[in-house]
Amino acid sequence: MNLWADFLTNDGRLIHKWKHYFPIYERHFRDFVHKPVTMLEIGCGLGGSLQMWKRYLGPHATIIGIDILPECKAYEEDQIEVRIGPQQDTQFLQGLVDEFGPPDIVLDDGSHMMSHVVRTFEYLYPRTARNGVYMVEDLHTAYWEEYEGGFRRLGTFIERCKTLLDELNADHTRDALPATEFTKSTLGMHFYDSVAVFERGRHTKKWAPGIGRET
Ligand SMILES: C[S@@+](CC[C@H](N)C(=O)[O-])C[C@H]1O[C@@H](n2cnc3c(N)ncnc32)[C@H](O)[C@@H]1O
Repeated sequence: MNLWADFLTNDGRLIHKWKHYFPIYERHFRDFVHKPVTMLEIGCGLGGSLQMWKRYLGPHATIIGIDILPECKAYEEDQIEVRIGPQQDTQFLQGLVDEFGPPDIVLDDGSHMMSHVVRTFEYLYPRTARNGVYMVEDLHTAYWEEYEGGFRRLGTFIERCKTLLDELNADHTRDALPATEFTKSTLGMHFYDSVAVFERGRHTKKWAPGIGRET
């Protein structure tokens, strides 16, 4: 299924997405299509994106939406669950993991307040499935003060990403930076206009020189 075409022809609930996100979604979510996966979308809006993920990911997927607005409960239907709570509340997040297991996909489209985005990531990323994907969208807010953002302002998610890039490469820093759980559980980081994507996965042995031979 072409997600962009689905968006253009949507006659269900309203979806609130920027156009250029669609190729990014397809690139990073395509391996999950028709698998029995759990996707957690933070921020339900008017409910349309939850339905779009259900159509895209197929009949075996469970879509969980979270929001602070109790009226979002009305978006529940077959394959779509909604839980009401603030994304920055780690007890609430733990409750979701306890109820549904580690999510395979996390998409943060919630408050976009920098302290919330960072706190949610720090808590949920290690609890995302071993081969899962964690995506944060609308990161233009990291530059806007009304979202606790600002250019090179300490504490924004963009600034956190810059330190995570060093953590990704910690094994090569000649002990300047010890490897972290992030180092061990992350295969890649991808950046686009307003979007950051983290691809989880464990390395077996990174260093394998020679021709088809490990040393
Ligand atoms: C941009 S809308 C989501 C749009 C939706 N994902 C879509 O694509 O159509 C953001 C949503 O986040 C919710 N929200 C705001 N602050 C939140 C918080 N602290 N925790 C969870 N959800 C929050 C808002 O109520 C709103 O429904």
